[in-house]
Amino acid sequence: MMDERVIMTDVTGRDGFQMEKNWIDTEDKIRVINQIIASGIPRIEATSFVSPKAVPQMRDAREVIDGIQRENVEVIALVPNVKGAELALEAGVDEVNYVLSISETHNQKNVRKTVGESIEGVKDIQKLMDSSKITVSLATAFGCPFEGLYEVDKILGNIETLTAAGLSRFTIADTTGMANPVQMTEFISTIKKQYPQHYFGLHLHNTRGMGLANIYAAYQSGMRHFDAALGGIGGCPFAPGASGNVSLEDVVHMFEFMGVPVEGKLPQLLDAALDMEKLLGRTLPGQVMKSGQADKTHIA
Ligand code: COA
Ligand code: ZN
Repeated sequence: MMDERVIMTDVTGRDGFQMEKNWIDTEDKIRVINQIIASGIPRIEATSFVSPKAVPQMRDAREVIDGIQRENVEVIALVPNVKGAELALEAGVDEVNYVLSISETHNQKNVRKTVGESIEGVKDIQKLMDSSKITVSLATAFGCPFEGLYEVDKILGNIETLTAAGLSRFTIADTTGMANPVQMTEFISTIKKQYPQHYFGLHLHNTRGMGLANIYAAYQSGMRHFDAALGGIGGCPFAPGASGNVSLEDVVHMFEFMGVPVEGKLPQLLDAALDMEKLLGRTLPGQVMKSGQADKTHIA
């Protein structure tokens, strides 16, 4: 029988903070990430090693990696090219998340390469590290703000090419929240059947409110690895209309109340989300941080 357990990857430090216009002090970034690690979340995408001109907020990537707690957690950094992978390796991350987009237009805007060039580029990273330490994120997997919706065949072709190149870890990213639960059921069932040995993760933005429904559909179809960001912050600076990730504490809350084993202590995550809301100085999209957990009672 398939293991019921869900493994969460928190992406607050990368996808969350990269979208923040105002500079966040390195020590504040480290504090937020350490609170998430302390809650028991087992995987953290803490930052990205990208051009500081492209995403100035990530220019302290090395300091962030140096400052966070490294016990009982896998630390991941996003990289767009071989230079990023070299810097991430020097910093001693456990895994790199190499990003490319299914959409030609978005890939050009995000990493200034054709999709073909990005696919070729991963080979240089495979020379630096074992393929088991490389996860490829397939961004704009279900559609893109420039090219609209497309058929799942487009994703499958890229997975096939990368699999032939020796890669077996993929994160499917719905960068601007375009997928729906019916499509999710079909797609996840297909890839799970076609590549039973691969690692697959799901990275969803809640742009159109379909995030939790998509996660539930994907879970029922066998997906067990999900990305999320504290308070539901985040987005891609190079995708118009991008808005926050599914909220980490809302996803943990859903699974916990469904009786699905998941790591990450809710009270600690809710405190961390409320602290981060103060730090960022605006109301965050997360819902359980406003309402409290489902079993919270009020004085009559
Ligand atoms: N880390 C740090 N600096 C980097 C870098 C990296 N991974 N890759 C390139 N640079 C630096 C170069 O050294 C160069 O610096 P210089 O101008 O001081 O000489 C500069 O960035 C431009 O390098 P170049 O190779 O010409 O890159 P580019 O301008 O064609 O941009 C990317 C390509 C991929 C580096 C850039 O588009 C990028 O970082 N994109 C990431 C976007 C992102 O993070 N999106 C959100 C996550 S999905
Ligand atoms: Zn994202």
